[in-house]
Amino acid sequence: MRTNRTFTMLKPDSVEKGHVGAILEKINAAGFRIVAMKLTQMTTADAKAFYAIHKERPFFGELVEYMTRGPIVAAILEKDNAVEDFRTLIGATNPADAAEGTIRKLYAASIGENAVHGSDSDENAAIEGAFHFSGREMF
Ligand code: RTP
Ligand code: MG
Repeated sequence: MRTNRTFTMLKPDSVEKGHVGAILEKINAAGFRIVAMKLTQMTTADAKAFYAIHKERPFFGELVEYMTRGPIVAAILEKDNAVEDFRTLIGATNPADAAEGTIRKLYAASIGENAVHGSDSDENAAIEGAFHFSGREMF
């Protein structure tokens, strides 16, 4: 089933560098409505579960360290074609390959520390949103 929601995290580097406001402005300007949002910090168990699909990858340990080192902004976003349009807005995983004007081109430091997460499918958007938010936190 195709839905109109996606899930994002403004990762610890975005919070540390004070980029939250600027990134949210780009998200708003691109026409996404904020359905849920909070400042939170992932535990090691949270990060291992959230990124379990990557557990055999060589960068998994670094990824878990990075995602747990400080607070993140977690949010559910709504728009037609949300998953695909948000992936376009954030740009390629490696900021060196990201298109001009994308969030990662503007704010990501490297492939490992790349400023923002975006769900890769409608199914994962629903799973990831439910991982961070209860029904009464969604509007
Ligand atoms: P995300 O899930 O965070 O939205 O990123 P993505 O789909 O663009 O990339 P994915 O392949 O799912 O990788 C998840 C995150 O792992 C880190 N990574 N590091 N050092 C590396 O080679 C490497 N590759 C990936 C990044 O933080 C990436 O966003
Ligand atoms: Mg991914």
